[in-house]
Amino acid sequence: MTAKQIIDHTLKTLPSDLDPQKLPRHVAVIMDGNGRWAQQRGLPRIMGHTRGVDTVRELVRCCDDWGIQALTVYSFSTENWKRPPQEVSVIMTLLEQFLQRELPEMMDRKIRLELVGGLQDLPNSVQKQIQKSMGTTSQNEGMRFTVATNYGGRQEILQVCQALAAQVKQGDLNPEDIDQALFERHLYTVNVGDPDLLIRTSGEMRISNFLLWQLAYAEIYITDILWPDFDRAEMHRALWEFQKRDRRFGKVKS
Ligand code: FPP
Repeated sequence: MTAKQIIDHTLKTLPSDLDPQKLPRHVAVIMDGNGRWAQQRGLPRIMGHTRGVDTVRELVRCCDDWGIQALTVYSFSTENWKRPPQEVSVIMTLLEQFLQRELPEMMDRKIRLELVGGLQDLPNSVQKQIQKSMGTTSQNEGMRFTVATNYGGRQEILQVCQALAAQVKQGDLNPEDIDQALFERHLYTVNVGDPDLLIRTSGEMRISNFLLWQLAYAEIYITDILWPDFDRAEMHRALWEFQKRDRRFGKVKS
């Protein structure tokens, strides 16, 4: 083996101090700090987003290599429309380019891609690329990669309420039959379930309207690292921290 092959192999293999049996099944990520990363270097904020996309690509590869079954990232919140129009437009373009460029590798890796959120409000060209990427990967049976775009947790919960209320109005559902399992079947995450681990970069201690229902029992890992600097070594640290946690789900220790 050449030195490069050895390095590649080492990076692709789950670090030996992590237990493959105790990996989070589903990891969710709030990618924060792109703007600050750029500002610290005297660069325009959009350069931070550009580097942030590279980090997304690497994280998808890392999770797939290490055997994580589902990864969900927060790429644009319903509140992010309040940013300067030029920044919003750059984020949309970056998303569209990412979906287009990564499609061959997603197919190679058998990754199933899904976008969730108010997709109908996105620019037409982005919607078309989303349809193409989701359609092309829809039969893939490997890792599930979900990108939350124009997403808001409260909006998602309201949509479920509206859907269930409509069924009650039609006479198809009794209010007493609404339980957690039925509610969850109407959430965007119906196929991936709740995240076991939430990672947030750049040190903010907030959930920011992300997966409000689904994060009820997630372990939360917050790092000061800014998103463009979140690499495999940082992911290793997050998983190591996760494996040290004692997940009790409200029960006492057995
Ligand atoms: C947070 O940093 C980042 C965003 C709001 C946008 C994230 C978008 C991308 C990485 C590009 C497209 C996404 C994908 C999935 C390819 P911030 O701007 O809030 O940083 P700051 O808090 O330092 O200002």
